[in-house]
Amino acid sequence: MADEAKGIGLYGDSWRPDPVHEYWDPGAYHRPERELVEGRFAGAECVECHQGVTPGIVNGWRQSRHAKPAGAAAPVACDGCHGGDHQALRFPTPADCGACHDRQHGQFLEERRYGFPSHALAMERAVDAKHFVDKPKAEVASCLQCHSVATKCDSCHTRHAFSAAEARRPEACITCHSGPPHPDDETYFASAHGRRYLAEGAGWDWSKPLVKGNYPVPTCAYCHMREGRHQVADKAIWKFGIREVNPRTAENNVKRRRWIAVCADCHEPDQAKAWLAGLDDERKRAWAMLYEAEAILRDLRGDDLLHPAPGARPPYPLDWWEQYWPIARIGFYEGQASAFYNVSGIERDYFEMWYFDGLGAYKAAAHGAPDAVREGHDRLARSLERVRAEAASLRALGTAERAAGVRADPGPLWLRGPYTDLNRERN
Ligand code: HEC
Ligand code: HEC
Ligand code: HEC
Ligand code: HEC
Ligand code: HEC
Ligand code: HEC
Ligand code: HEC
Ligand code: HEC
Repeated sequence: MADEAKGIGLYGDSWRPDPVHEYWDPGAYHRPERELVEGRFAGAECVECHQGVTPGIVNGWRQSRHAKPAGAAAPVACDGCHGGDHQALRFPTPADCGACHDRQHGQFLEERRYGFPSHALAMERAVDAKHFVDKPKAEVASCLQCHSVATKCDSCHTRHAFSAAEARRPEACITCHSGPPHPDDETYFASAHGRRYLAEGAGWDWSKPLVKGNYPVPTCAYCHMREGRHQVADKAIWKFGIREVNPRTAENNVKRRRWIAVCADCHEPDQAKAWLAGLDDERKRAWAMLYEAEAILRDLRGDDLLHPAPGARPPYPLDWWEQYWPIARIGFYEGQASAFYNVSGIERDYFEMWYFDGLGAYKAAAHGAPDAVREGHDRLARSLERVRAEAASLRALGTAERAAGVRADPGPLWLRGPYTDLNRERN
């Protein structure tokens, strides 16, 4: 595999891009197709021929501001983004859009200084994650549908309409911001803001920019891309929510003030302060339960009561040395990939508690959906109860085994099987 592989990132020599990658990361993978039409064309010629070849694209473009800019600006036709030589066509990268939209591109690049997560770093985050290269190809090919937000600008205002109005609405975000570890869609639509949007939003004038006075309730972009800034990372305190943070560091106090300024477009600042403190409080309660579950698992591991034990489960291909020096891992802090697969039932329950129950409650608290916070905490409490009960029966079983002088031996059960074999083939 290694000699053919030519992915990008830390593990690029271990995985091979599919043809679709040229759309998701055109800067890295798009290569002009030489067998296409030959010649250099002016914008009007591109449009004329493509009206027959790809009418949907041309119609989308005709509706866009690129076809009819405000004021004196000249239209931007097909060649403005793809180039004029049909044998050397480009798929535009953020930098290509930035040639005319320097402000948005600059703000987007600025996200990098806030670290992970951010849109600008999303591609690195995905392909540099160990489980991206360790899991079977069929499971990871889809990661980049969402993580390509870093490598092209048509995620929120889609091609070829490139409409700002489209991007202002929550539907522009929830194509990616949905699903159990990041239920931004469900929690927003359950909030007072989201319910009002669902009831009335169809009648609002979406051609207006997202600034104070233009909308009765905020949408995702109103809050996270304040005043149209192409920057989603400058306020994130709890970030993705998978690690506990100190929400009161100097940096986080700056971010907190930025949040309060957003809410203050419509609410009293003191009220906003109290709501944000409520989020910190929710996180504290959630982490107390998560730490208790993690401590239970560590104790079980210490007493050798978790199976498969480290040496009995297949190491991920990148961690080949663990065949010889197995390492016990519990929870996120010791390696994310290890938390997903080939773990005992109780470890998987802990993973779900932390990744689904915990993150669901977080986003509910962040987005103002009190029923979903209660529901998330009920689930956390039930999961913790289950972890305690499972731990008790594992301990009872261990005691009985010791008393009887037997030891359950699953043999190579975990080391073989279709999933493991698939993993070993790499991707
Ligand atoms: C004489 C007709 C004609 C003209 C003129 C023309 N194209 Fe095309 N173009 C095509 C055809 C045919 C295809 C292949 C479509 C397909 O595969 O479905 C194509 C494909 C493309 C693609 C997709 C390339 C890919 O890698 O998938 C782009 C982008 C494109 N054209 C842009 C342009 C631009 C920009 C111009 C003007 C500079 C232009 N075209 C002028 C006929 C034309
Ligand atoms: C050659 C210059 C040029 C390039 C390259 C370019 N644009 Fe534009 N863009 C414009 C102009 C001109 C307008 C219209 C501005 C106006 O009407 O005031 C515009 C408007 C827009 C708008 C606003 C639409 C609205 O509904 O208000 C968006 C969004 C946009 N461009 C996105 C992009 C993206 C994404 C790319 C790269 C894929 C891109 N542009 C590449 C020149 C360009
Ligand atoms: C504002 C920049 C911009 C303009 C103007 C533009 N395109 Fe595109 N085009 C894009 C982007 C961005 C993509 C997506 C590339 C990717 O997926 O990485 C794209 C993709 C394409 C594709 C291949 C993918 C697909 O959707 O099938 C074709 C064909 C295409 N454009 C044709 C055209 C034609 C014809 C015109 C003129 C009517 C045009 N484009 C004008 C930015 C532009
Ligand atoms: C094409 C998919 C996609 C779309 C569309 C998208 N995002 Fe994201 N977003 C992501 C990914 C992927 C990440 C995580 C990046 C990483 O792993 O570093 C992310 C991260 C974020 C973050 C976290 C930043 C932080 O520092 O914690 C915020 C906030 C965010 N997006 C808001 C939005 C908003 C608001 C919209 C709509 C206007 C939106 N996103 C549209 C894919 C998308
Ligand atoms: C449905 C869209 C989607 C898909 C598919 C997806 N992600 Fe993400 N991913 C996101 C979003 C959105 C976030 C950030 C959520 C937040 O900040 O709340 C994220 C966050 C992450 C993070 C954590 C970022 C951080 O810095 O904390 C990693 C790592 C990651 N994704 C890797 C992957 C990998 C690997 C895959 C494929 C197995 C994948 N993602 C598939 C949307 C997606
Ligand atoms: C996470 C979603 C998202 C991504 C990704 C995104 N945009 Fe935008 N874009 C928006 C939103 C939302 C607006 C409307 C902002 C407003 O109301 O002022 C917008 C508006 C614009 C406008 C019109 C601004 C105006 O004042 O009329 C341009 C130009 C633009 N974006 C360019 C880009 C470029 C270039 C990129 C890639 C670097 C990009 N966008 C990526 C969400 C996004
Ligand atoms: C009323 C403003 C508001 C709206 C509307 C809103 N959010 Fe949030 N969002 C927040 C707050 C506050 C947090 C917690 C921020 C923190 O911990 O710093 C948050 C957290 C997040 C995060 C985690 C990263 C971060 O910034 O901490 C993502 C991703 C996210 N929201 C996406 C979305 C999406 C997608 C939508 C629309 C479906 C949306 N949000 C709607 C205010 C909002
Ligand atoms: C553009 C105006 C606007 C902004 C900005 C805004 N809100 Fe709201 N908010 C409203 C409106 C209007 C309602 C009442 C909606 C309804 O019930 O119809 C509301 C309701 C709420 C509620 C439910 C209130 C209750 O008493 O039940 C909470 C919580 C809330 N907002 C939190 C926030 C937070 C936190 C922020 C900032 C991160 C914020 N809002 C930003 C307009 C806004």
